[in-house]
Amino acid sequence: MNIKSILKKALEESFLHLNYSFDDLKLDFSNKDDADFQCNSAFSLAKKQGHSPEIVANSIISNLNQDVADVWFAKPGFINFKIKDDVLSKCLNEAVSDKRLCLETIIDHEKVVMDYGGANVAKELHIGHLRSPIIGEGFARLYKLLGQEVISDTHLGDWGLQMGLTIAQLQDDGYIDGYFDTSKKNKQITLDTLNEEYPKASKRKNDDADFRVKAETYTKLIQEQKEPYWSVYNHIRDISVERIKYNYEKLNCHFDLWYGESTCAKYTDEVVKLFVDKGLTKEYDGALIVDVAKDGENIPIEKKNPDDPQLYKNPMPPVYLKKSNGADVYDTTDIATIYQRNQDFAPNKIMYFVDKRQFLHFERCFRATKMAGISDENQKLEFVGFGTINGTDGKPFKTRSGETIKLEDIINLVTDSATKKLKENGIENNPELALQIGIAAMKFGDLLNAPSKDYIFDIDKFASFEGKTGPYIQYTGARINSLLSKGKVADKTDYFEKLKLINIADENQRNIAINFIKLQESYFACYKENSLSSLCMALYEFASSYAKFYNDTRILSEQDDNKRNSYLALSHFVLKAISQAADVLGFEIPSKM
Ligand code: ARG
Repeated sequence: MNIKSILKKALEESFLHLNYSFDDLKLDFSNKDDADFQCNSAFSLAKKQGHSPEIVANSIISNLNQDVADVWFAKPGFINFKIKDDVLSKCLNEAVSDKRLCLETIIDHEKVVMDYGGANVAKELHIGHLRSPIIGEGFARLYKLLGQEVISDTHLGDWGLQMGLTIAQLQDDGYIDGYFDTSKKNKQITLDTLNEEYPKASKRKNDDADFRVKAETYTKLIQEQKEPYWSVYNHIRDISVERIKYNYEKLNCHFDLWYGESTCAKYTDEVVKLFVDKGLTKEYDGALIVDVAKDGENIPIEKKNPDDPQLYKNPMPPVYLKKSNGADVYDTTDIATIYQRNQDFAPNKIMYFVDKRQFLHFERCFRATKMAGISDENQKLEFVGFGTINGTDGKPFKTRSGETIKLEDIINLVTDSATKKLKENGIENNPELALQIGIAAMKFGDLLNAPSKDYIFDIDKFASFEGKTGPYIQYTGARINSLLSKGKVADKTDYFEKLKLINIADENQRNIAINFIKLQESYFACYKENSLSSLCMALYEFASSYAKFYNDTRILSEQDDNKRNSYLALSHFVLKAISQAADVLGFEIPSKM
């Protein structure tokens, strides 16, 4: 049972009776101490009815079914509700025996492809790759929980210039001689080799034009699946992907598909032809482009001097379908990937969890796919752009020597911090637990912020066992775990779930129940807002309300069996609700910490 829906229904009946429009119906949580919900509809209705808000509010109240809540009027026109304790008990007892804790589902069923992770083959994962898997995985889990069908695809960066660069460098350093001349031998390529060779090549391309052209040619040859480039490419890809999988596993991120930019390769010719046949393409410096600018964009700014480069107001660059050497680029693969996803899954929506600085790339690709009819007008293409992770100095998080931080180093950093905290609590030599806590610290610290916001990576704050942190949530859950095992009820889940033992009897317990209702509602807020921040906040409030109850109540030593059972059943319920939310955020609740 959903208490808010019941109240809303009661209000609707009263409105119907009074001939008031449902458009004016507003029901919100109350921030007053004595009320749980409030309805402010009387203000807007009063204007329409030509009565005072007081008269309107009282007429609503007198037509209201008051079975679930005590209802009263508060000046000048508020209607307040306080849910009856036995109704709260019933709600929780019902929820505890339901697998989804009676969480409703989204009525409009959608099939959604989620594109997140986005690691690049041959390049080492770094801090810029942290937010996409954290946020994307959270949304994949949220959508599934709310009943949507989700297909997650990590969309590896495996079709770009970095591949050609790496192979050209490996060749120059004598690693792949055997691929070109069978009388020669190859040197073993490991992950460390790639971590050295790609950065070397990437630097080199800026001052060595011949090398750059060679890398571009190799990239094209890979895209044409020409040997031996194709075999070397696949070898590098395998080495890289193995490591990427290992790291995503640590982050608790799992993908349905390990596709990449390369997956759509079989469709690129077809896709390019679609644009050409529709007359949407142009040639520009040998490249094939599509103009996607709308009115008011690309307004040339008057040049002060004829040698100045042309600048534009509201610049909207074209989409590149082919480079001048005929190779595919980032635009090509993203557009062809939409085509491939539509062939394979026909999703209602595709969501991208990518650095917000790529907004324009996606905007352009989305426009192009709509123009070509690759994506029909009903299909939603959503870009969820995320901000930068800054250090405590407020600037992008770097190592002390000013280098980009590797993803593995961040995982080690949070794990070390958790290890220290555990030691203070008398728990040593438990690397698995430290990793669990580290991941929770990092994820909660991130998801508490709306994706588009930059935030400061403050490991001491994130890893604290107190405050709005992942470890605090875990700690609350772990305390319940140990309470339940001390109460000798850990194996009596059925007992608590069938006998409906929860009996809400004081203010602390009421607060838990109300915060549970808020927690349930926050899932829908997240769905609407494209941010998991509301869930983090509501989960924190919920956990805090339990902590207050836990501190103020003698649970295990309670002599009255009914009370003791109710306390334990309530605790068991809270653990379930915390676990449900933590699971969406992508971390676990340990049995002790
Ligand atoms: N590999 C890209 C990068 O590192 C992210 C991929 C995002 N997804 C996409 N469909 N383009 O920037």
